[in-house]
Amino acid sequence: MGKLTGKVAVVTGASSGMGKEIVTLFAKEGASVVAVARRKERLEDLAASLKDEEGTVLAYPGDISSKDVNEAMIDFAVEKFGKLDILVNNAGIMDDMAAVGDFNDDKLLQVFSVNVYGPFYATRKAVNTFKAQGSKGSIVHIASEGAYKTCAGAVYCASKSAVVTLSRNTAYMYKNEGIRSNAIIAGGFVTEISTSMGMPDMEAYGKLQPNLATSPAPGDPVEIAKAVVFLASDDAAYISGAELAVDGGWCAA
Ligand SMILES: NC(=O)c1ccc[n+]([C@@H]2O[C@H](COP(=O)([O-])OP(=O)(O)OC[C@H]3O[C@@H](n4cnc5c(N)ncnc54)[C@H](OP(=O)(O)O)[C@@H]3O)[C@@H](O)[C@H]2O)c1
Repeated sequence: MGKLTGKVAVVTGASSGMGKEIVTLFAKEGASVVAVARRKERLEDLAASLKDEEGTVLAYPGDISSKDVNEAMIDFAVEKFGKLDILVNNAGIMDDMAAVGDFNDDKLLQVFSVNVYGPFYATRKAVNTFKAQGSKGSIVHIASEGAYKTCAGAVYCASKSAVVTLSRNTAYMYKNEGIRSNAIIAGGFVTEISTSMGMPDMEAYGKLQPNLATSPAPGDPVEIAKAVVFLASDDAAYISGAELAVDGGWCAA
């Protein structure tokens, strides 16, 4: 029996990087998973590659910046698997590293739509689903060292601070209902996220170098997946409102 046997999860940003590893480990640990991202083919390939694992994976293509998608993906999980136990708000994009004096209006909207509005819509739907079910539930947010360190642009760092605050506020407000919410403070990982950056603001990027140089070598995204399984599982039943750094020690620099 896996650590998540019998649990139903929705994981966003499942088509690459950390999300793909989270879905993979969830399926191996027995969870039924709705895997969400825009690239349908990738989700379907992932689901097919996991068909022999204990848990079933279903692809749910959609844009996480849309309120309707956030609500519909959770309805889909309940319709297909009968309930919701776990939400992982993982989908995210980078900014262009710009300082506040130079941020781009479109970038601000785009990054906050994916990194902040998406998790807000999904978390609202998840807590109300848990309450309607009369069940406990676990929400895991993928935040970043950027919530605390100046290691990206003002927009990205502020978006991840918002995610940490959302996580803590949720944990406090729903503690009596047994709804847990935790955030992972991810360090540097080898994924496709730099493709969402576009052309960086080179002046700002230069200024960030002393901080970036304090990071250990980038990690394997499977390390994030292991931490998410722990926080989502009953092993973490008494952990809520916490931030867990998974960063090879960068938080100590
Ligand atoms: N890599 C790092 O060093 C690092 C460090 C700290 C925190 N993080 C955080 O970790 C999380 C995962 O990122 P990653 O590093 O694994 O990057 P990644 O490989 O680029 O994966 C990002 C995922 O988010 C999805 N996504 C992006 N925009 C979306 C949208 N509008 N609607 C639905 N899905 C969307 C992408 O899928 P589609 O393109 O198919 O939609 C993809 O599956 C993010 O929240 C990121 O901020 C990463």
